[in-house]
Order: sequence, then structure tokens, then C-alpha cells
Amino acid sequence: MKEFLFLLVVVMEASSGSHNSWCEPGCDCQTDVRYTSCSRALLTKLPSRISPNTKLLDLSFNHITLIPKRSFSKNHKLQVLLLQHNNISVVEDSGFSHLEFLSKLDLSWNQISFLSEGFSAGLALLRELQLAHNRLTTLDSKSFLYLDGLQRLNLTSNAIHTIQVRSFSSMTSLRQLHLEDNHLTSLKNGMFSILRSLEVLNLAGNRINETDIGIFKPLSSMTLLNLANNQLSTIYFKTFLSIQTYSTHILLEGNPWHCDCDLQRLFQKLRSIQRLFLDDYYNLTCQAPPALRDYRLMEVDTELCIAETVTVLIITATVAITVLAAMLMGERMRKKEQKGKHWTQQADLSDESDY
Ligand SMILES: *[C@@H]1O[C@H](CO)[C@@H](O)[C@H](O)[C@H]1NC(C)=O
Ligand SMILES: *[C@@H]1O[C@H](CO)[C@@H](O)[C@H](O)[C@H]1NC(C)=O
Ligand SMILES: *[C@@H]1O[C@H](CO)[C@@H](O)[C@H](O)[C@H]1NC(C)=O
Ligand SMILES: *[C@@H]1O[C@H](CO)[C@@H](O)[C@H](O)[C@H]1NC(C)=O
Repeated sequence: MKEFLFLLVVVMEASSGSHNSWCEPGCDCQTDVRYTSCSRALLTKLPSRISPNTKLLDLSFNHITLIPKRSFSKNHKLQVLLLQHNNISVVEDSGFSHLEFLSKLDLSWNQISFLSEGFSAGLALLRELQLAHNRLTTLDSKSFLYLDGLQRLNLTSNAIHTIQVRSFSSMTSLRQLHLEDNHLTSLKNGMFSILRSLEVLNLAGNRINETDIGIFKPLSSMTLLNLANNQLSTIYFKTFLSIQTYSTHILLEGNPWHCDCDLQRLFQKLRSIQRLFLDDYYNLTCQAPPALRDYRLMEVDTELCIAETVTVLIITATVAITVLAAMLMGERMRKKEQKGKHWTQQADLSDESDY
């Protein structure tokens, strides 16, 4: 019955000569160019009448709150779906599963706090996923389960504090991972272990103060690592030495560096590694010790080891003096002994002369 009514509507609209039988009020439907725009149309839910030929659907700047199960069932030709600046808090399981040709999905500026296992179902050809400015806090191995073809993932400005091992395990093609302005505090081995194609890893503006030594080792294609504006006061040399790439640019400014001789040596060694480029080295500033606060590391770094050098000099001098003194003493003792021997020898001789 439903289908019959639907057909009737289609036939009636066709006979009335309407070119926009598939067009929702508020939308601009240009079926020729396969582009439908319903941006700023005050929609509170997904429109039901979208031309099945549409390849690009723009639903940005509306008030949509929910993506129900198996939405877009008549729009499997969609390649680009724009949903940014809505009020979406729930994406039901398999919400996008009909969109087998979708290559770009923009969900930024919404209220999404949780990605269910079925969130990415059917999106094997998706290349770009924009999820910036949502409310995600935790990523786990189910968050992006089916995104085999994804190349760019933007998670900027969420509240992510936990990334479990294997969260990105489907993404062997991923080239860019944007995690800036989140709440990460430490980087644990295994977080990025599958991302062999990753070129850009942006972790700026988090609260990272600790990194496991092997964390970047699997990232053999990484050309840019951004760790600016975190809480690093020092780093392990091995963490960066283990980066096995052809060439990688590393950004580290805006961290509260603890400027001491160890840090100076560490940066000296890092800068001598040919494949690593510390682009903002000249902008690194000290937070501690208090006497060096707000100084640039490059301004003080030649002095950081001076105290140590002086100590070493003093120790060397002390040792040298002691050795010298010992030698002199030894010499004097030897001379005394020889004198003693001389006397006894003379005594022996005089004894002999008595015979
Ligand atoms: C977004 O949805 C919440 C309820 O989930 C509602 O209180 C709020 O007014 C909505 N905001 C906008 C801009 O539509
Ligand atoms: C990530 O999302 C933010 C916010 O929408 C945007 O400004 C930024 O350009 C995006 N970055 C990339 C690489 O797509
Ligand atoms: C990092 O910060 C956490 C919480 O503030 C603290 O417990 C931990 O000791 C810090 N680690 C380092 C290496 O400073
Ligand atoms: C260093 O800081 C200055 C001023 O904040 C900025 O203009 C410049 O781009 C920074 N250099 C690098 C390499 O980040």
C-alpha cells in the first residue's frame, strides 16, 4: 500500500511537469550536476526526498540531531556527504552502511561523544573523515573498524584522553592523523602500531608529558611529527632515534623544557641526526630551572654544561696534583732509600777493610 502511494505521488508529480519531485523544501536540487544543497535549511532531521542520482549532498548548518539506522538507503551513489555544523549526538549502528561509494564524510562541529561498532560499517571506500569539534573522549579498536581505505582522519578539538591499542588497526592506508587540541597525556606503545603509510601525525595542543621509547618506530613513512604545545619537560633520545624514516620534520615548541646539561646534550645529538629536522629548535624556551625561565634554549645551551665542565676540570686538576705529589713523594723516598743503602754499603766496605 505504502509503495503504491509512493508510486502514485511520483507519477502525479511527473505528470504535473515538476522537475523537482525529489527536492525537499529548502533544498536546492541541481540534478544535472548531481549536487543537492540543503545547507542552512533549518532541517531538524535528515530529508527524506533526495534524488537518487545525487553524488554530493550538503546538509551543513542545520539542526539535525540523529542519524538513524540505515539512512540514505536511496542514495547509494553519494560520494560526498557534508553534515558539519549540525547538532548530531547519535549515529545509530549502520547509520551510513548504504553509502558504499562515499569518499568524504564531514561530521565536524557536532555533538558526537561515542562511535559505535557499526558507525563505519559499509564505508570501505571512505578516504576522508572529518570529526573535528565533537565530544569524543575515548577511541578503541571498534571506533573505526571498517575504514580500510581512509587516508585522512581529522579528530581535532575533541576531548580525547584515551586511545586504546589497535584503535587505528584497520587503517593501513591512513596518511594524515590530526589529533591536535585533545586531552592526551601520554603516548603508549601500540597506539600507532599499524600506521605504516602515515605521513602526518599532529599531536599539538595536548597535555603529553610522557612518551614510550618505541612509540614512533612503526611509523616508517612519517614526514611530519607535531608535538608543539604539550607538557614535555624532557624527552628520551631513543624515542626519536628510533624514527626510521627517510626524513622527518619535528615540531617541539611551546613545551615547558627543563634546561639542563642533559637536555643540551640530547638536542646536540638529535640535531646531528641527518634524517631529523628540528624546525623550531630556535623557538624552544626553558620553563625550568627558575633562573632560566623564558630564555631560549639556544641562547643558554652552550652554558648549560659549563658548571659541569668546571667540576670536571676541578676534579681533573685535583687528581693531577695528587698524582704529582705522590710521584714527588715517591722520588724523595727512593732517594732516601738510596742514601741509606749507600751508608750501609760504606759500612760493609769498612767492615771488609778490617780483614
Ligand atoms: C541541540 O540538541 C540539544 C538536545 O540534544 C538541544 O538542547 C539544543 O537546543 C540543540 N541545539 C541546537 C543549536 O539546535
Ligand atoms: C581539521 O578540522 C578543522 C576544523 O574543522 C579544520 O580547521 C582543519 O583544517 C582540518 N584539518 C584537515 C587537515 O583537514
Ligand atoms: C606526567 O604527568 C602526570 C600527571 O600530571 C604525572 O603523574 C607524571 O609523573 C608526569 N610524568 C612525567 C615524566 O613528568
Ligand atoms: C618561531 O616563532 C616565531 C614567533 O612566534 C614564529 O613567527 C616562527 O614561525 C617560529 N618558527 C618556527 C620554525 O616555528
